[in-house]
Amino acid sequence: MQQDLIKAKEIILSGGVVGIPTETVYGLAASIDSSEGIKNIFQYKERPFFDPLIVHISDLKQLDSITAGCSEIILKFANIFWPGPLTLILPKHQSLNPMITAGLETVAVRMPSHLVAKELINICQVPLAAPSANKFGKTSPTTAEHVRREWPNGEVFVIDGGPSAIGIESTVLQIKEEGDVLKLEIFRPGYILEEDLEKAALFLGKKVLIERVESEKSPGHLPYHYQPEIPLVLVENSSELSAVQLQEIKNKLNLKNLNYKLLELNNSAAIAARELYSKLRELSQSDADFILLYKKQGQTKGLWRAVWDRLNRAATIKIN
Ligand code: TXA
Ligand code: MG
Repeated sequence: MQQDLIKAKEIILSGGVVGIPTETVYGLAASIDSSEGIKNIFQYKERPFFDPLIVHISDLKQLDSITAGCSEIILKFANIFWPGPLTLILPKHQSLNPMITAGLETVAVRMPSHLVAKELINICQVPLAAPSANKFGKTSPTTAEHVRREWPNGEVFVIDGGPSAIGIESTVLQIKEEGDVLKLEIFRPGYILEEDLEKAALFLGKKVLIERVESEKSPGHLPYHYQPEIPLVLVENSSELSAVQLQEIKNKLNLKNLNYKLLELNNSAAIAARELYSKLRELSQSDADFILLYKKQGQTKGLWRAVWDRLNRAATIKIN
């Protein structure tokens, strides 16, 4: 591991990218101080420049060089949830490379809890910009092997830190103070739940207003995202496929054959989240023509919101 960290540091400090483990998903990391490294992230991922990156830190002091300052209440939130799967949208420091923020006046920051990620940021002595380590719009990786398969010619060095414990991306949040009310704008649901954020705000003596803005204000959180290699068909209101529905799938996806594999989610949202991307990747590698998923009623609360946010975007078509 120590040797891997040293190799990763050398690559990162000379303008390259490295696949790194985090507790949510694997990231494709570069130094925030290397224009070449940041450009490489976009090129490797084939990611459009309008989609801003998350900056990963290992120490709160690093906020000084990334942000234009944080209010006391935001620092308190950071202290409650960091290190961990919460990304905060903060005013950016004027010196930050505009490619990282896609020209926005804000920067997304998080402190990962994965020890390998933290140690790498420590030894590089610079925050690391890192989106999920997948081609743009595709399924995120939760193991080192997933990342290697994304760039199968060995173009990307990956540190293996074991499977990601959480399995889906961080919650993205912007906090706005309006008098004694804290407005919590959730740009992307994740492992840190609305309920957790609300409790924290109340604990800090504030009134809370939660707003789910999800995609509108989060430039990269598009209606189609997280897509597996073969189509995912989401069946919304039935638990069995009729001949008519099969014909509809055939027509809509322009398929010759109708071999499919069923995506089955664990009844525990935490386990379903952890397994989600691995399962999508595994099923994509079978000889099936598409993946089929029956929507279950009632999976709308807590972590299920984040899981279904991903599944709704991963679905190629939805049928009734
Ligand atoms: O768990 C995670 O967040 C993982 C790990 C690697 O840390 N990273 C991740 O990065 O999911 P990425 O690039 O796949 O998703 C980051 C999303 C962007 O697509 C965008 O929607 C949002 O964060 N974002 C970044 N900067 C933003 C900003 N200034 N304002 C609003 N949304 C922003
Ligand atoms: Mg991503």
